Amino acid sequence: EIPNPPLPLANGGIKLVNDAAHPFIAAGPNDIRGPCPALNTLASHGYLPRNGVARPDQIITAVMEGLNLGNDFAKFLCYQAFLMNGNPLTNLMSIGMKTPGTGPDPPKPALVGGLSQHGTFEGDTSMTRVDAYFGDQAVFNEALFQGFISTSAKYGYNGTYDVNAAAELRNQRLQNSIKTNPQLVFTSPRILSAYSEAVFPTIFFVDGRLNNRRLSIDAARHFFDFQMMPTDFHRQPAPVNFTMVDPLTKAIFDKHPFAPGVNHGKNNFVLQPQTPPLSDFCGIYEDIVLRVIPGQYPRPTGALRQAINKNLGFLYGAVKAEHNCTQVFPFGRY
Ligand code: HEM
Ligand code: MG
Repeated sequence: EIPNPPLPLANGGIKLVNDAAHPFIAAGPNDIRGPCPALNTLASHGYLPRNGVARPDQIITAVMEGLNLGNDFAKFLCYQAFLMNGNPLTNLMSIGMKTPGTGPDPPKPALVGGLSQHGTFEGDTSMTRVDAYFGDQAVFNEALFQGFISTSAKYGYNGTYDVNAAAELRNQRLQNSIKTNPQLVFTSPRILSAYSEAVFPTIFFVDGRLNNRRLSIDAARHFFDFQMMPTDFHRQPAPVNFTMVDPLTKAIFDKHPFAPGVNHGKNNFVLQPQTPPLSDFCGIYEDIVLRVIPGQYPRPTGALRQAINKNLGFLYGAVKAEHNCTQVFPFGRY
């Protein structure tokens, strides 16, 4: 009943993806968009259902086809998000706010909140979205984007958003939230998404024909603000997996290392040494599976337990090859 994850693309080469079959159509009043500029854009081009509600297999196919994410990497992002924000009973997830469009919810404390649900995948210190404490954590924020531009002007090659700009912006956003957000949470799993998402634009939003890891502000404006691929946009020339992303993530971390923590009031960052640091990928995998997911599904039974276990298996399938983690089972072996 729950489809298996899609296989790697048969033809994973470069190609025009802003093509006639995938025209940009701005989201209508009933179309959901959320905190991820990539998924928003893929929905606006019809790689995802334009209403913003999708099955995990549709999301994986969309990010592989539209942006050339590697199969494992796509599965890791998608099943992680789906287990925290989707509906395991209907196999549907909103790429933004909670919606009846994902069907009847499983019992509380399950949230089925969609990708905008704060404190799950979505978290603090985003580059172009404010912390939930300050307002809408899902919507593009022009003032923050001006910071993206000025940081790129100061640190990036020729004013582009490159790995140096990413390192500085990531650190600035963290330092700013430490100073101003009394409820800042910066622990697993958010630390991992925060650092990977700083790197993603230098890879996936750069036209594959150029592929120099330097994102122009014009292209950034298209994806982050307009939720639109630039004219004639070509995807990456080959599928991009952890092996490409991990060293870049480590490079920006090494410029400004940090330890996970939470604010107890403004400017009072209390370290959380019992939680996994950014360098411990398998520790973060285990934290998601053994703490975060059981937080919403403490004792699932029947069809719900079966569906969650199936998705947990898919998630593990994505991390075993490149990270060699040991599988963990919160709800019994399956
Ligand atoms: C942010 C989900 C793929 C780029 C986010 C956020 C979520 C999310 C929940 C909000 C986190 C936050 O900032 O608080 C997903 C899922 C994906 C996916 C489930 C695939 C299955 C991608 C891809 C890219 C991407 C392929 C490629 C560029 C970004 C960026 C942000 C982001 C740059 C940060 C936005 C900001 O900080 O302002 N994503 N994403 N995502 N995502 Fe995605
Ligand atoms: Mg956020």
